[in-house]
Amino acid sequence: MEHVHDLRRAKGLLMLKLPSWFDYLSDSADRKQLQEMREDFAKKMLDPRFAFASEALAVAKTLRGKASSWTVENEAIRIGIADDLNAEEKQKLKTVLDAFRPWKKGPYTIFGEAIDAEWRSDIKWNRVKPALRSIEGEVIADIGCHNGYFMYRMVAEGARHVIGFEPVPVNAYNHLVMQEFAPVPEISFELFGVEHIDLFPETFDTIFCMGILYHHTDPIGLLRKMKKALKPKGRLVIDCQGIAGSESISLTPSGRYAGASGVWYLPTMTALQNWVKRAGFSQQNAFYSEALSSEEQRATDWADVKSLQDFLDPNDPTKTVEGYPAPYRHYLIAKA
Ligand SMILES: C[S@@+](CC[C@H](N)C(=O)[O-])C[C@H]1O[C@@H](n2cnc3c(N)ncnc32)[C@H](O)[C@@H]1O
Repeated sequence: MEHVHDLRRAKGLLMLKLPSWFDYLSDSADRKQLQEMREDFAKKMLDPRFAFASEALAVAKTLRGKASSWTVENEAIRIGIADDLNAEEKQKLKTVLDAFRPWKKGPYTIFGEAIDAEWRSDIKWNRVKPALRSIEGEVIADIGCHNGYFMYRMVAEGARHVIGFEPVPVNAYNHLVMQEFAPVPEISFELFGVEHIDLFPETFDTIFCMGILYHHTDPIGLLRKMKKALKPKGRLVIDCQGIAGSESISLTPSGRYAGASGVWYLPTMTALQNWVKRAGFSQQNAFYSEALSSEEQRATDWADVKSLQDFLDPNDPTKTVEGYPAPYRHYLIAKA
């Protein structure tokens, strides 16, 4: 009985009725399989390790729809204004926002509270946006969408619908609280991983694959899957951590890299371009390749963490603390 009750709660969390994005799937998508997977993944939300986030969502629900508007303001996603809440509600807001410390992606301004996150996601967006031209009316996948910062930016630029692929429940909760404050029906948050993208055949006009490839053991296999999920003239936007150099090589660290675990392949820009070419993309435009700076990734009041600066060699910032070449970021857009 308890199990039935729990599953009902899980279904409620991710609105497990058939999602609105089913309308955008091609005929060859297996809708039944997708729905079964959604129901299965939703159970992860009930893991007791995420009770703190689930409790924060319960508090956020008491502030449902309180935001008078949402917009992009000074590069931050602004949800509501300070005057939308009374003093008691502001106290509840504080509890909710504190639950998601450290804030890794932002900036946000939520009911007047400015959240300066560890990563200045606006810097990344402002690199990508000019290279994209328009995304007006597009159906988009944002792979590894974290708390959803880029999805708001995409909707603000006129995207028809954005599906965020993000298997980490805490990030789902973080996004869901914001959807409580101000529902944005053009955004769907799903607990799928990048490895499930080929279950969406010929669905997307644009797929954003930012900060993903170097965290996986088979980046070329994933690129192939993403190609399958693009419409015939669709495009793939890649931001990938890598290393400097002109040879087509990639670095596999023996363990941690710049303090991070789960880093497998760090390509030069040339190697990344060859991955994309060999995955079968017809054209590509590489538009940025520079060292990652601590303007873009740093500790803040909302992210009391060790950050890039702590993981570079203090005597030689071109090296990580482990002695590897320091991180670069490579960006390109490829056509299916
Ligand atoms: C380095 S962050 C990048 C976040 C964001 N895309 C950006 O560019 O700032 C990687 C994100 O991928 C998520 N992630 C982890 N495993 C994943 C998987 N199998 N498929 C898709 N995303 C995954 C992480 O939870 C995290 O939000």
